Amino acid sequence: MEIQPNFNFTQFDIKLETETIGRNFLYFNEINSTNAVLLDKSSKHINGTVVFAEKQKSGKGRFNNSWESEKGQNLTFSILLNIDKNLKDKLNLLNLGTAQVLASTLESLFQLQVEVKWPNDILIKKKKAAGILVETVSVGSVIKKAVIGIGLNVNQTLFAGEYNYPPTSLRLELSQAIEREKVLAEFLNSFEELLWKIKNKPSLILQSWREKCDMIGEKICLNQNGKLKYGVFDDIDENGQLMLRTEEGIKIINYGDVRVVH
Ligand code: BTN
Repeated sequence: MEIQPNFNFTQFDIKLETETIGRNFLYFNEINSTNAVLLDKSSKHINGTVVFAEKQKSGKGRFNNSWESEKGQNLTFSILLNIDKNLKDKLNLLNLGTAQVLASTLESLFQLQVEVKWPNDILIKKKKAAGILVETVSVGSVIKKAVIGIGLNVNQTLFAGEYNYPPTSLRLELSQAIEREKVLAEFLNSFEELLWKIKNKPSLILQSWREKCDMIGEKICLNQNGKLKYGVFDDIDENGQLMLRTEEGIKIINYGDVRVVH
């Protein structure tokens, strides 16, 4: 199949089956960060808006890391959600659920085995194929909007620089070029279903997430801003927080970077 140098909106739109998510679609050739566009307090984008960029000049990762992605090769985009009363206590579920839905989308499109790493990294054969950054907009102490930013390595084959986790892409794993439009549309279709599940069947999300996490039961090291904690990854609780079994008992963890130790 011939891969278009630029994102083909028509191809994407044919496959998009959502009611809200991605119906307002903003395409940028180059922008600082798709998350930043939606976080801008003066902007008035509607619920479900998707901002897509061929290139981000300052793509953001978790823990103030940058997110590097070669122009025109990958999927770097953000989704805007209004936070109503149904979603306000469920942002962790949104975080884990987004990872689970992305992993499932890749598995069903490409028959790949995809793993989630708490809370929301996507690994293929222990290498990082995608990252998710959820940021919020508050008025006073009330969260009004969430921006779910996703970077998925699709057709990039060379990754220069230093990475915490070795990177990979769909193309590297499948040895063929991948149509980005189809991946994005299928993901957004499932993401809209995720919103329904968060409100109506949250336990299903947690269960599907657990099934894709290979770290449960493993001895891990948790890094919280340079402070290390060791223990066993016991489980996730009903809010998606990590339950770390230590000598002092179970500790509930809501942020940090985890890795298996041997
Ligand atoms: C991570 O560190 O794993 C999260 C990476 C998130 C990157 C995406 S790319 C699209 C969106 N815009 C950003 O600036 N960051 C997110």
